[in-house]
Amino acid sequence: MNILEKISTEKSRLGATILSHYYQEGAIQDLADFVGDSLAMAQFCEKTDAEVIVVCGVRFMAETAKTLNPTRKVLLPDLEAGCSLADSCQPAPFQNFKNKLNDPYVVMYINSSPEIKALSDVVCTSSNAEKIIRSIPQERQILFGPDRHLGRYLIEKTGRDMVLWQGVCIVHETFNEKNLLKLKATHPESQIIAHPECEANILRHADFIGSTSKLLQFTQDSDARSFIVLTEAGIMHQMAKASPNKEFIPGPDDSGCNCAECPYMRLNTLEKLYLCMKEESPEIEMSPELITASGLPLKRMMEISAA
Ligand code: 13P
Ligand code: SF4
Repeated sequence: MNILEKISTEKSRLGATILSHYYQEGAIQDLADFVGDSLAMAQFCEKTDAEVIVVCGVRFMAETAKTLNPTRKVLLPDLEAGCSLADSCQPAPFQNFKNKLNDPYVVMYINSSPEIKALSDVVCTSSNAEKIIRSIPQERQILFGPDRHLGRYLIEKTGRDMVLWQGVCIVHETFNEKNLLKLKATHPESQIIAHPECEANILRHADFIGSTSKLLQFTQDSDARSFIVLTEAGIMHQMAKASPNKEFIPGPDDSGCNCAECPYMRLNTLEKLYLCMKEESPEIEMSPELITASGLPLKRMMEISAA
């Protein structure tokens, strides 16, 4: 049996559903039952009745799946698949930071650990962050974490002042403005599209800014034939599938290399996906107390998002 057949056999044996984020390698996206952004993955996980949920993404996505559907077994091909944003925000320093403010309302990006979500009032993703922030009463001071670039972008978009935790995404931070302008000069017909986790000096050149799913939709709806894509390169697999006659050019970093791949996301491989199903491990384990505490702000996000 080849690896795809082995994965399919294990999937049937377990009664599993396989989810993939857009930042996985193309082969994983192609075999998944569902491919989406962070919000769509959470919504899918909350509703699925599959016995086992296999999350091809990073750890906070698998923890979110477990929190929203705790009776299911949740597997992650590589437990080391973390996130620089989640790592930047640890409970003790975050609690200290929060204590220095005047009872802030904490809006926490989903790219965070369950322990940090448990210290928050509401979670958001890049798809619904504006809606979440606009739902918070004007008189409340907002503390937003952990992504300072997304936070700054949201301050501009909503006009709400927010105190920001200073985390960054190591992938979106690598795009280089000078090299972007050089690339644009050689492709003047291309539209620049960017994820809001990018720095301000990158976002100011963008024709469109949005979450991965919104970027994908934009490339389908736009009349443009060529796009310079400023987010993790994996999304271009779906863009090319949806619009085979359009051109997608990855954004450049400091060295001019067009190779923005998330080292955490890319820890997942077809082989590890097969092994995690065969061995039913690594499994996401969370205490009932942590599921309850991190579930409250997550469920609040799901409700506001659906309203
Ligand atoms: P979205 O899936 O919300 O677009 O976020 C991108 C990301 O960085 C996920 O880690
Ligand atoms: Fe985290 Fe950035 Fe990787 Fe997304 S792309 S998982 S935000 S490090």
